Amino acid sequence: MDFSSLNKSRRSIRDFKPNQVPESVLKQILEDALWSPSWSNTHPYYLAIAQGDTLELIKNDYLKLFDQAWPLMNGNWLKKLQLLIFRKGWPDGDFRTIFKYPHTLQKRRVKTGKALYEFLGITRDDKEGKEKAWRQNFEFFGAPVAMFLFVHKDLKAYAALDAGIFLQTIMLSAHCLGLGTCAQGALATWASPVRNHLEIPKDFKLIVGLSLGYPSDNPVNTFNVGRDDLDLGF
Ligand SMILES: Cc1cc2nc3c(=O)[nH]c(=O)nc-3n(C[C@H](O)[C@H](O)[C@H](O)COP(=O)(O)O)c2cc1C
Repeated sequence: MDFSSLNKSRRSIRDFKPNQVPESVLKQILEDALWSPSWSNTHPYYLAIAQGDTLELIKNDYLKLFDQAWPLMNGNWLKKLQLLIFRKGWPDGDFRTIFKYPHTLQKRRVKTGKALYEFLGITRDDKEGKEKAWRQNFEFFGAPVAMFLFVHKDLKAYAALDAGIFLQTIMLSAHCLGLGTCAQGALATWASPVRNHLEIPKDFKLIVGLSLGYPSDNPVNTFNVGRDDLDLGF
């Protein structure tokens, strides 16, 4: 595939086959990602990978937190107050993932969310459907591999910039090899599930997670959110 076709045919994958990813394939993806450029070639990030039993343990921790937090976050003010006071399921991520975007970007964000819900047949009032869709993030959409990308705490925006390039290389390499991925900011809402089961250097902060595996035939994987028309200026 030429680059434009490869790039344009990648989609966020939100349902995976349970098939394991061979070690040689994982190694190829990581080798490709290692060739990502970074400022002064510093690679200011740390990648943790979970599979098998470790992945199950991390998943259980995430689901426990999600199941505690969701009804409170989405309940009436009393429930929200309960979350604030008792802090059960309170986000313990290194970065805030729950916040309102600036107006123009929030419009795009809402449009994307709405389009995905519509595609999944989830209506505006379908609280259960929304909960189920969100919960699948913390089940890694059934993927056999989860990756967690950390950035050095002192580098701020530039570490995030380099990490983003690294992340995109992983996603394109995986796609090129017939695998699928979904980058997941949602996984950075809590960091304790990862730290509980994987050794993470103390100077690194969890910025994003990624599910990786072989895409299933579930129609969700054909969801194409498209792009707003970009003005290339010529
Ligand atoms: C940094 C980042 C965080 C994301 N977080 C999530 C997430 O938590 N859950 C999810 O389902 N998709 C997530 N996505 C996927 C985006 O929604 C998706 O990339 C976007 O809608 C464009 O669709 P496409 O990847 O199919 O082209 C994330 C993507 C990126 C790059």
